Amino acid sequence: MSEPTVPSGLSRRGELLLSVEDLQAYFDTDDGTVKAVDGVSFDIYRGEVFAVVGESGSGKSVTATTIMGLQPTIRIAGGSVHWKGRDLLAMSEEEHRRIRGGEIAMIFQDPLTALNPVHTVGRQIGEMARIHEGLNHKQAHERAIEMIELVGIPEPRKRADMYPHEFSGGMRQRAMIAMAITCKPDLLIADEPTTALDVTVQAQVLDVLLAIKDEIDSAIMLITHDLGVVAGLADRVMVMYAGRQAEIGTAAELFYQTRHPYTFGLLASLPRLDGGDDEELVPIDGSPPSLIHVPSGCAFHPRCRFAEVPGRCNEERPLLRTVTSDGHVTACHFAERLATVTVESIRTGRTEVGP
Ligand SMILES: Nc1ncnc2c1ncn2[C@@H]1O[C@H](COP(=O)(O)OP(=O)(O)OP(=O)(O)O)[C@@H](O)[C@H]1O
Ligand code: SF4
Ligand SMILES: [Mg+2]
Repeated sequence: MSEPTVPSGLSRRGELLLSVEDLQAYFDTDDGTVKAVDGVSFDIYRGEVFAVVGESGSGKSVTATTIMGLQPTIRIAGGSVHWKGRDLLAMSEEEHRRIRGGEIAMIFQDPLTALNPVHTVGRQIGEMARIHEGLNHKQAHERAIEMIELVGIPEPRKRADMYPHEFSGGMRQRAMIAMAITCKPDLLIADEPTTALDVTVQAQVLDVLLAIKDEIDSAIMLITHDLGVVAGLADRVMVMYAGRQAEIGTAAELFYQTRHPYTFGLLASLPRLDGGDDEELVPIDGSPPSLIHVPSGCAFHPRCRFAEVPGRCNEERPLLRTVTSDGHVTACHFAERLATVTVESIRTGRTEVGP
């Protein structure tokens, strides 16, 4: 008998957890409407590390906090967010709260603002299990110690009784991770979890995250402005620009079969793996637009070296479309022309595009 066919690579990817479709999440301000998330679609599957990359202000955090129901002033102008098939945006606050922390947990950039200075670290970690699983104080304390040990903090029993200010930056971030994983969530959203840390500690914290993902069989949505962090870590990557998606694909596709000029720009601004002292990082010209006044057509056109302006690039918004494989999509009118472009040629300014 022949194998049954499975649509959209599901068999390779595991269980579909989160499905975001054409999400439009806006802030109405005195200055105008901030289109922080403007038509974003993606799926996250159990077991994968899904990275979200883009410059400051591209809508990464708002995408995550909207999913988490942590944006009280946001206006959902369109689209949907489904969690294991259930409509997250239509849920009551009570239902959403049960999922938040229990099934989806978030790790924030700055652990000092997220940890309460007046309670011990152990108590704060245990609190999650008390709320979501109804453990008593003693059980919660034991769970906290177990979690502290799991994130690699030495002497967990002693550490549980200490306060956040007694921890180093790296240890605090590990404590945040311990808090987030206490209820063994299916999805861990980590928003710039290591930007405040030095490089060595960054690597350690990311290692802990990866090990835990396997331990609790979850997925990770890893938000970072640093495509370098993504390299050895992410299974799939979504590049965001001006509240929209530029490109989504496997890490290998994004790095080696790039089909969006903005992704190329991010890659060219990375230190080269083989770079010596004389290496030159090439930043992307210009700066990201205000999300109140997003450029017409393709939002990237004022900064894009491949733009046809006047023409399609400033007149027509490019829709996401499939390029090199089923899951590799890009929002560029001229994606096919980029097949012959290399990061090196972007660095040196000698780009030759295809027909
Ligand atoms: N509460 C708010 N009210 C109005 N605008 C907001 C609010 N929160 C965020 N924004 C705007 O939404 C846009 C997207 O912000 P977001 O924080 O998602 O960016 P980001 O990609 O996470 O950037 P960074 O890398 O700096 O964290 C920005 O223009 C920001 O100014
Ligand atoms: S659509 Fe045009 S402006 Fe936008 S990325 Fe592609 S070439 Fe550049
Ligand atoms: Mg952010």
